[in-house]
Amino acid sequence: MSARIATVFMATGVQGSSVIRALLKDTIFTPRAVTRNANSETARALGCEVVEASYGNKDALKKAVTGAECVFLVTMPFTDLPEMDQGKNVIDACMEAGVKFVALSSLPNVREMSGGKYTHVIHFDEKAEVQKYLEASGIACASICPGSFLENIHRGQLGCPFTKTDTGYELITRERPGSSVIQTWTGHDMGPAVAAVFAQYTTRPAEIDHKMFVLGSRRATAEETAAELAKGLGVPVTVKHLGPMAFPAVDEMYDFSAEYEWFPGVEVPDMRLEALGVKVGTIEEFARTELKEHIGA
Ligand SMILES: NC(=O)c1ccc[n+]([C@@H]2O[C@H](COP(=O)([O-])OP(=O)(O)OC[C@H]3O[C@@H](n4cnc5c(N)ncnc54)[C@H](OP(=O)(O)O)[C@@H]3O)[C@@H](O)[C@H]2O)c1
Repeated sequence: MSARIATVFMATGVQGSSVIRALLKDTIFTPRAVTRNANSETARALGCEVVEASYGNKDALKKAVTGAECVFLVTMPFTDLPEMDQGKNVIDACMEAGVKFVALSSLPNVREMSGGKYTHVIHFDEKAEVQKYLEASGIACASICPGSFLENIHRGQLGCPFTKTDTGYELITRERPGSSVIQTWTGHDMGPAVAAVFAQYTTRPAEIDHKMFVLGSRRATAEETAAELAKGLGVPVTVKHLGPMAFPAVDEMYDFSAEYEWFPGVEVPDMRLEALGVKVGTIEEFARTELKEHIGA
């Protein structure tokens, strides 16, 4: 077992569990998983050391990162503690404990990019603020920014279940018609991306330190995504667009995505991640494997 420890926050979630799997696979680092409940079935199934900490508990956070060389940080929106405070508490603990490198799951700053037009998309803006705080902390770091999770399709998020039809399936989405959005197979690709920057931050600092990477299979409209899903499932997939849901954070997120390209000018898949050895999965492959299994097709 490697003596080099990497602490992984939200280790039972889609992103964190992907990072744990990737670290266990390449064995360069020994993962330490952080959860609020070490006795949960999901936590016990991770197959590595598990420690308990909540973002508001500074002592527990300090213990969780002490002895770790690297940390994967992702924060949780719409809880009692703002994401900025969650991120700040973890980054402060990392500074005190002498952590060498932090990989952050981040998102674009919607308020800034839209020139103040969209001000409610706090689950993006706060991550971007955490990113600024991290980049100013003095710790070597990289931000890895996912797009819309393909996993949302089988999670049926935001009242959008993937629905059986007479001939195939219907992709129900709140993406505005014509919006081209980055699609990310997060559980498949976040782990390898984080493992790659952890493994190479000392040898390739010019390519990694303080860089922001975009994690995604491609930019696609809902119709283009449906066509890829259809190829993978082998049946037609139609699209139904739903309107706003009277939740400004989400409604403005979709309006912003229709009007602005996330990470303008960055080709997706991100060639800079490919150069570090990260090969992301395709939408078709996601459909043929994970989605098919979830829907029992
Ligand atoms: N869905 C998307 O398309 C999308 C796109 C880009 C970014 N994101 C971001 O991804 C993040 C969610 O990540 P994920 O999908 O990997 O998570 P997830 O699968 O939803 O799991 C979240 C994990 O976080 C923990 N958690 C739940 N509530 C918490 C709280 N109040 N405080 C601390 N931990 C809590 C839980 O772990 P324990 O119970 O074990 O503690 C849970 O396993 C959010 O920040 C979201 O904004 C999502």
